[in-house]
Amino acid sequence: MQPTPSLTQLPAWSELVSAVEQTKPTLNGLYTIEAAGITIDFSGQRCSPAIETATTRLLEQRHFEQQRHALLHGGIVNPTENRAAWHTALRQHMTTPEVTAERERFNAFIRHADTAHRWRHIVHIGIGGSDWGVRLCISAFGYSKLWRTVRFVANIDGHAIESGLADLNPHDTLVVVASKSFTTAETLTNAQRALEWLKAAGVPAPHEQVVAITAKPERAAQWGVPTKNIFTFWDWVGGRFSLWSSVGLTTALSVSSDVIAGMHAGAAAMDHHFESAPLSHNAPVQMALHGIINRNILHIASLNIAPYDSRLAYLVPYIQQLEMESLGKSVDLNGEPVPVATGPVVWGMPGTDAQHTFFQWLHQGTEGAAVDFIVCQQADHRWQEHHQSLLANCLAQREAMLRGKSYEQAYEECLQQGHAPNAAAWLAKHRTHQGGRPNTLIVLPRLSPYHLGALLALYEHKVFVQGLIWGINPFDQWGVEYGKFLASDIIKELQQTTPPCTKHDVSTAYWINKFKNKGA
Ligand code: F6P
Repeated sequence: MQPTPSLTQLPAWSELVSAVEQTKPTLNGLYTIEAAGITIDFSGQRCSPAIETATTRLLEQRHFEQQRHALLHGGIVNPTENRAAWHTALRQHMTTPEVTAERERFNAFIRHADTAHRWRHIVHIGIGGSDWGVRLCISAFGYSKLWRTVRFVANIDGHAIESGLADLNPHDTLVVVASKSFTTAETLTNAQRALEWLKAAGVPAPHEQVVAITAKPERAAQWGVPTKNIFTFWDWVGGRFSLWSSVGLTTALSVSSDVIAGMHAGAAAMDHHFESAPLSHNAPVQMALHGIINRNILHIASLNIAPYDSRLAYLVPYIQQLEMESLGKSVDLNGEPVPVATGPVVWGMPGTDAQHTFFQWLHQGTEGAAVDFIVCQQADHRWQEHHQSLLANCLAQREAMLRGKSYEQAYEECLQQGHAPNAAAWLAKHRTHQGGRPNTLIVLPRLSPYHLGALLALYEHKVFVQGLIWGINPFDQWGVEYGKFLASDIIKELQQTTPPCTKHDVSTAYWINKFKNKGA
């Protein structure tokens, strides 16, 4: 592997830093990009011809076109696991024979279950990438097959499986176990509980009521899932990208297969845009570059996701995992420390709830965050008044963050409200709003599967480009793997009567002893 120069050694980096430092937020120009039916408004970011020139050079110096080609055509872009990250192949119409064959099995399974009017209840067991995307789809599009109910069980916390199974009829329940590795402790433990629940109810063939979706079909078979009930995906699909695989089974069973097809089409359209649009009009590329400017030059440590749509509440954890698991890295591809900060903290909540929760911090806190406002132009309910108000709130919060309020404006306002000059001078300091806080406005025509698919692909490609610029691998997650490994040792120690082994720190050993005696 060729050594990757560190970001700060690239000539384009210093050009970009000085270009950004010379650019103030202007609000004078409208700068939007259309991609796969979505409009992305970058007017609230730092933009100038000098920034554009420097970012184009930066991408060249990172061999962007070559790397993008590798990503989109199954090249090894995850060198620490020696794998491709070819989730885009799952959503292309013309794809590989193995993907097509699995799609056909998937569709046949759904058709058969629907025709036979089988499975009144679905219990979806999976965590992280095997969970968030499915929850997002179902909360975005509701249940169109109203005769089926869906429950999600992710957490190892026994309360999750307890409430997940409560009041369901075991004889008419399908347990969907989604796990790329089929080793994740949470998922396998919860699946075991569900199986016991089926058995305890006297279900004649309990394993027949379990479906597994995994990249390790042999492990699912060993666990007891019948081969015909195992759907496969491949090592080259990362767990946090597995929504595009048969992990969509629960969505297809409870909403419709059309949702899956629509999302695939929208994501594929975004892939095409990413592959073909010129860099200055390439939405994922521009989103990535503005994220880098915000993080490394304006030193903004977090990105707030503000979907102005209650149906998109799960978009926040979905993007959190996508960004933070991918970009939470501190060594580059050479194994050397990255010289600048990498992925921001990602957090958020749907507006307008978020306004009444933490927006004050965004407006006047000492640090602030970059904000992605996401909104649908058209709603799917009949109360136009609600939607206009939602849109107005989204635009107003964004405008306040952009424009701010000067001391003079605030002072004048206080005088007009009848405050005496002294009081007005004091109060105006509290009402002054710095403004100039970077944000992006993402407008979907409406929340269709097509546009949600495109939106998710937009963020995926953005993350890829940021990983490339930082020179890190966005497709592994060794830190989480380490935590998983330590937990498996501690679980064994909690179950034993012997004292904890000496490799623990004093505090961990103390709590292992304490929980061993008082635990469940
Ligand atoms: O959090 C680590 C992780 O490996 C994620 O990348 C993944 O989405 C999650 O665990 C679940 O893993 P699996 O699908 O293998 O059960």
